Amino acid sequence: MNLRYLWLLLLPAACSTTRNPLGNFEPVEAITIIEAPAAQASPADAGIVEHGRYLVGLLGCESCHTDRALLGTPRMDRQLAGSDVGIAYSNPLKQPRPGVVYPANLTPDMKSGIGAWTDQEIIAAIRTGLDRSGRQHLPVMPWPGYQKLSDADAAAITAYLRALPPVEHAVPENVQPGSAAHAPYVHFGVYQSQH
Ligand code: HEC
Repeated sequence: MNLRYLWLLLLPAACSTTRNPLGNFEPVEAITIIEAPAAQASPADAGIVEHGRYLVGLLGCESCHTDRALLGTPRMDRQLAGSDVGIAYSNPLKQPRPGVVYPANLTPDMKSGIGAWTDQEIIAAIRTGLDRSGRQHLPVMPWPGYQKLSDADAAAITAYLRALPPVEHAVPENVQPGSAAHAPYVHFGVYQSQH
């Protein structure tokens, strides 16, 4: 998924209803391609970890999971460590207060990252969009495009994420449609004309 080809619009968090639904939007020039950060691996794991790093770079995980990458101003001290900028998953043009999800911290920090997840839980989130409880599909996360990752590739991504330096960074709570977001978010999509 190449976000450069999607309209990326910034919505200030506390926007109120106006007659023009685009009145509170601001177009964003986003830089979404960032080189995946280096990881610490033992010599025995170096090959698989390097392959995982290659895949994470290729599949654009950093476009969302690096703080502020969605705005084109990535925080390099929070590479893959979750985003304080969220993504609307319901239509903000119809409903001024859309549902918003915040891309998770993928570093192995035990509290704010995925350090406590099992390999199987991480692989399921990437390939099937199931969250850790095994139920809810993760909105926005482009798992349908990752469904066909081979077992070896999914394992390599997981090994790479586990080998990243842990970064403590809790992302804002997800927001249900109809509730006010307390952190900024973007909305992107392809819009079809009605005639
Ligand atoms: C278009 C943005 C986007 C891209 C690209 C993306 N993700 Fe995500 N991802 C998200 C969002 C948003 C969530 C949180 C969804 C939620 O909370 O329901 C998420 C959640 C996750 C989770 C669950 C972690 C948790 O704590 O909930 C994992 C694991 C994950 N992503 C891995 C990846 C990997 C690996 C890649 C690249 C192969 C990737 N993501 C690419 C947006 C993205």
